[in-house]
Amino acid sequence: MTTSPFPDGFLWGASTAAYQIEGAAAEGGRGPSIWDTFAATPGKVKDGDTGETACDHYHRWREDFRIAADLGLKAYRLSVSWSRLQPSGRGGLNPEAVAFYRELLADLRAKGIRSAVTLYHWDLPQPLEDEGGWPERSVAECFGDYAARTARALGDLVDEWIPINEAWCAAFLGYHAGVHAPGRQDRTAALRAAHHLNVAHGLAVAALREHAPAGRIGSAVILTDIEAASDRPEDVAAARLSDGGGNRLFLDPLFRGSYPEDMLAHFAPTGAFDAVRPGDMELIAAPLDFVGVNHYHRFVVEADPSDAHLGNRALPPQHAVTGFGWEIHPESLRRVLRRLAGEYTDLPVYITESGASFEDAVSADGSVDDTDRVDYLDGYMRAAGRAIEDGVDLRGYFVWSLLDNFEWAEGYSKRFGLVRVDYDTQRRTLKRSAHWYRDVIATNGAAL
Ligand code: NOJ
Repeated sequence: MTTSPFPDGFLWGASTAAYQIEGAAAEGGRGPSIWDTFAATPGKVKDGDTGETACDHYHRWREDFRIAADLGLKAYRLSVSWSRLQPSGRGGLNPEAVAFYRELLADLRAKGIRSAVTLYHWDLPQPLEDEGGWPERSVAECFGDYAARTARALGDLVDEWIPINEAWCAAFLGYHAGVHAPGRQDRTAALRAAHHLNVAHGLAVAALREHAPAGRIGSAVILTDIEAASDRPEDVAAARLSDGGGNRLFLDPLFRGSYPEDMLAHFAPTGAFDAVRPGDMELIAAPLDFVGVNHYHRFVVEADPSDAHLGNRALPPQHAVTGFGWEIHPESLRRVLRRLAGEYTDLPVYITESGASFEDAVSADGSVDDTDRVDYLDGYMRAAGRAIEDGVDLRGYFVWSLLDNFEWAEGYSKRFGLVRVDYDTQRRTLKRSAHWYRDVIATNGAAL
């Protein structure tokens, strides 16, 4: 008989995010978010795609949850839209939005599917960006208020809370690279945004503890596996800096209550860390119940003095790549999990996102034989199993994503779903990977 390293009760799940699936951008009292503005700006999103309709999940969530139940999902991670719940970013919650999310969450509970709710998956209400966005501390304070109100409104129906999704992306893709909303290119602003996203996390944890005491609280940190291209000291130093800017800038505050010394020194000329106020670091490091890891990348980096940000550049991928061009390297998942457990925390860990986009071909009969996605997930899930055998307290694995959806700057051109969405008809079709995942879940991983 095949044995499985996955413990009983392992949470096999799938993840989504509001702007990527909901659509109904102008319905139910929702206000504009920075992603509506960004996507409406010519040249920002591939093919001019927007989240206006997306997967129309706002109207079709019952069908989507029937699919989730049919797959046997133990847990489902969704995000609630800040600009739907609190359109101006301030004041009382929009009752229509509260009713919508309560109905959704109650249905998940009735189906026996645990809910993991992200409060911020990148959809900042536009009025708050107009006041300066995440580089301003007031936005973090608004987020704390939004978290408290949402905790009171939905807390009885939520199992796991995740305040912020991938603070690194929100800060650096949004305010430094400018490839995500709000599309600014200002490194100091990005660093200030990073600190305020960390503060926002801390304020939300405090608010959730007070107003939704039954929920468990964690994070969704993007962890990238970074290796030096050689043992030349300059490459090793470059890899360390790259790890600092991508991983440690967020892990250290959460689990050590401080920013890494080398990062403070490296970014000192920007003055951005003047934004840190007394008490902030204690707030950010408030105890959590679990840690969530989103993992997609390995980078092998070498020193590059022409890179003004972190002095490095990544070498081309050395293995096969996904449809996004991201290297397929399952061992990296095991490595980031081991590192987290070895260097930072013994909290239970959940993989809050892992998955891949591929060019899915649709057969004449409508089926999608996505063996490349099955192979990808099989490899990464086995690597997760090896991490458990190594001693990592891994309790769950959420596939990104349940559905094909709006992939940010790539629009609808990149498909990550277990379920295909035909955007013309909104028809859902289970891909081969969905059928495969159903077996994995039914056997608690023994089918891998
Ligand atoms: C991480 C993000 O949280 C999610 O929104 C995105 O779609 C996936 N990465 C894939 O890029």
